[in-house]
Amino acid sequence: MLNRKQISKLRSSHLSPSLSISYESPLHIVRGKGQYLFEANGKRYLDAVNNIQHVGHCHPVVVKAAQDQYEKLNTNTRYLDETIVQYAKALTSRLPKGLDVCFFTNSGSEANDLALRIARCITQSKETIVLDAAYHGNLSSLIQVSPYKHHGPGGKGPPNFVHIIPRPDVFRGQYRGEQVADDYFAEVNKAIQNIHDKGKKVSVFMAESLMGC
Ligand SMILES: Cc1ncc(COP(=O)(O)O)c(C=O)c1O
Repeated sequence: MLNRKQISKLRSSHLSPSLSISYESPLHIVRGKGQYLFEANGKRYLDAVNNIQHVGHCHPVVVKAAQDQYEKLNTNTRYLDETIVQYAKALTSRLPKGLDVCFFTNSGSEANDLALRIARCITQSKETIVLDAAYHGNLSSLIQVSPYKHHGPGGKGPPNFVHIIPRPDVFRGQYRGEQVADDYFAEVNKAIQNIHDKGKKVSVFMAESLMGC
């Protein structure tokens, strides 16, 4: 197994420098299980950082299902395939009525880009409202609507169709305390009004239900 120094050297030769690495002394993580990550020396960490885990690292049911499918077939949606329709049926049976149709993508970025395209097609407008620390993905279309990126290092700010409102943080946000919901709602209404004042329609209000970054 390569040691940390060797990995760091290869990383600086072969990975883009724009990929950030965490901590002054970066962790060499070799394994994940459930809510834990394990370093090469066996040290266990409770993972509250590595993006948002839904079922934990390496859930055995997920691993087995993926292995079984890779052994059978991995193709696109141009053919009739029982697995994808059974999956769509099972998934939508757990969603509120009316959410019956699936369009599967490979990542959050693709899903959000698709959502933007659908909203823009339906509304014939690009006017987008987002929260002030939002991150919606790494495609160009999503950097435009992600203040976390376009206000971050090297960022050039939002395009004129993006309207930024404060994130509803009752601890550290612009409005604090338990009774501030109306103040945050008023910010959404202000953004909608600004769009209408330009003679435009709202295309989409994108908001993470739980901000992870
Ligand atoms: C809130 C949020 N939206 C979208 C994305 C993009 O997802 P992906 O990395 O799967 O493209 C992320 C990824 O970190 C995210 O945290």
